[in-house]
Amino acid sequence: MTQQPPAGTGLGFGALFTKHVVSARYVAGAWSGFELRAFEDLRFSPAAMVMHYGQAIFEGLKAFRSTAADEVLIFRAADCARRFDRSATRMAMPPLPAGMFVDAVRTLVEADAAEVPSAPGSSLYIRPVMVADEPSLAVRPSIEFSFLVLASPVDSFFASGRSMIDAYAQRDHIRAALGGTGDVKCAGNYAGAMAAKADAQAHNCDEVLWLDAREHRDVEEFGAMNCFVVRGEDDHAELITPGLGGTILPGHTRATVITLAGRRGLTVREEPIELSQVLDPYGPVSEVFACGTAAGVAPVHRILTDTGEERTIGDRPGPVTSLLAADYVAVTHGELEPEPDWITKIAG
Ligand code: PLP
Ligand code: COI
Repeated sequence: MTQQPPAGTGLGFGALFTKHVVSARYVAGAWSGFELRAFEDLRFSPAAMVMHYGQAIFEGLKAFRSTAADEVLIFRAADCARRFDRSATRMAMPPLPAGMFVDAVRTLVEADAAEVPSAPGSSLYIRPVMVADEPSLAVRPSIEFSFLVLASPVDSFFASGRSMIDAYAQRDHIRAALGGTGDVKCAGNYAGAMAAKADAQAHNCDEVLWLDAREHRDVEEFGAMNCFVVRGEDDHAELITPGLGGTILPGHTRATVITLAGRRGLTVREEPIELSQVLDPYGPVSEVFACGTAAGVAPVHRILTDTGEERTIGDRPGPVTSLLAADYVAVTHGELEPEPDWITKIAG
């Protein structure tokens, strides 16, 4: 393996938590205000509906320590709030009152600002979640819910710590079909994907590369990230990502990369990408990268399939991937002008 582990602080992903959480409850048709509490184990009924029917949604966003000033920058909180509402509606859960998501995230980050790490590649991962906790085995939407926000100082998302990832495409499992829940962030999407993740790991890969459910022909996204390929090189390079047809999660990092690529004058197309094109070493695809909040911009090293096909995309990140990865780091750390609404600032 030619890849080197990235410089990091050894935090990993999601193993350590800050001192506080924010929580609110929904009972009798209304949300309570949220409160800041100590991070400690919760009490819940063995009959809590989420335990049985999995009515649960979550979000993922990050706070970064700015490079220049002692500030903490929360990235795209308002977009996460909107996606959380969309997920809630899809899962028959009550959306939060306007402003509550961002206020809750801000309150937690203010309380635990000292725990936002500063080493390159590190950040505070923020995890808002809503679960059905009415004690009942009835098969219908719950009428009671808890909203929680917790936070975890993190660096590398991938357990291998590799700076480039290997991905595994297989046809035994599918992630999402039209009319399903693939375009929202519900817990069940991830539960249904665990077997595919285990397959990927058994093939020494970091991630699943999901194909379309109907024909297993087009690349859709990675297990926890959206997918981009670069076609052509130098002045002819263009960026392609699958369009959001209802089965793909509309990632905020995907949207950010599209904006950053546009600023660089790159052509971005949202159109189907056939797996066969990606696997063809003589074809036009010169770079592949994954992107998501937890992983950032992650260059793809190699793709394997269940039919034994394999392509090494590159042993080093390609020029377009490197440019966009650097722009993404810069904009999240306050070194590049953000779009309006991208950054919520907290005193460090
Ligand atoms: N696709 C899936 C399935 C994900 O879980 C994620 C992570 O949230 C993404 C894409 C990327 O989304 P975002 O960039 O908003 O984190
Ligand atoms: C994220 O990137 O925020 C995600 O939610 C992906 C994964 C941790 C589930």
